[in-house]
Amino acid sequence: MPGRYMHAMNGDKKPCLSGKGVSKVFGLGRNKTVAVDNVDFTFHEGEVISIVGESGSGKTTLAKMLLGLINPTSGDIYFQGQKRDISSHRKKKEYWKSIQAIFQDPFSSYNTFNKIDTVLLDCIRMRGGGHLSRDEKTELMTEACRFVNLKYEELTNKYPFELSGGQQQRLMIARIFLLKPKILLADEPTSMIDACSRSTILDALLDLRNEIGMTPIFITHDIGLAFYVSDAVYIMERGRIVESGTADEVILAPKEAYTKRLISDVPKIREEWDLSTV
Ligand SMILES: Nc1ncnc2c1ncn2[C@@H]1O[C@H](COP(=O)(O)OP(=O)(O)OP(=O)(O)O)[C@@H](O)[C@H]1O
Ligand SMILES: [Mg+2]
Repeated sequence: MPGRYMHAMNGDKKPCLSGKGVSKVFGLGRNKTVAVDNVDFTFHEGEVISIVGESGSGKTTLAKMLLGLINPTSGDIYFQGQKRDISSHRKKKEYWKSIQAIFQDPFSSYNTFNKIDTVLLDCIRMRGGGHLSRDEKTELMTEACRFVNLKYEELTNKYPFELSGGQQQRLMIARIFLLKPKILLADEPTSMIDACSRSTILDALLDLRNEIGMTPIFITHDIGLAFYVSDAVYIMERGRIVESGTADEVILAPKEAYTKRLISDVPKIREEWDLSTV
């Protein structure tokens, strides 16, 4: 098993995304669900962040609010220290140049009427590469596919639904390679991938972090993964952030019973993630 990723902690950390009192309530009356309950957080540039919690704890709902796909019921989200304004379509499109996501179900992320070429060309256009020649665009697309171990030549003229789940997830990462966002929300990005390809994809995402200075936010059930990749860990339970801190603080010295339980659910966490060296 490889050792943990260690990221230099930047002395003067800049907040890239933060939230104050953010809540999301679905439904009304007896059908009311408080999916996210008054959470505060500050994610810093250059850190690898993980949000960990059981199924139904509100992780995806929080991710959708961060991305601006749904609005918080209350509370505010700040982007690079300023209150986020995505009130118009134009402002939202501008925001999505900086923040992108990979979701659990890759299929839902694609417009199924577009071929893979079009999906990738859109990314190039979004990054201002619309004026490039066809050859230059093909070169960029080839490079992006190679980055995630896909062969561009085999994908041209295919639709995303013609790919396997794992290939679709790789294609999503190829899109990120082209889009070069400042922040990437990765919601269970490796759920459809076998263990071997999983570490390749994680490596690819962490390489992107170094290559384009992206801040990745991993959303996962897997506290072992969080320990392995993160600088900062946030633990969610029933919509609330119950514990947060550095990976070492939260996972090696958890304070909350819930966090302790998540860790004890992974009995081999110490061996599996090579904690003997920590
Ligand atoms: N659109 C919606 N309408 C009503 N309730 C919703 C909606 N989306 C999510 N919920 C509810 O909000 C709660 C949190 O859901 P969410 O999808 O954020 O959990 P999660 O932590 O991502 O879970 P998982 O690990 O299973 O993906 C759940 O109780 C869910 O049923
Ligand atoms: Mg989810």
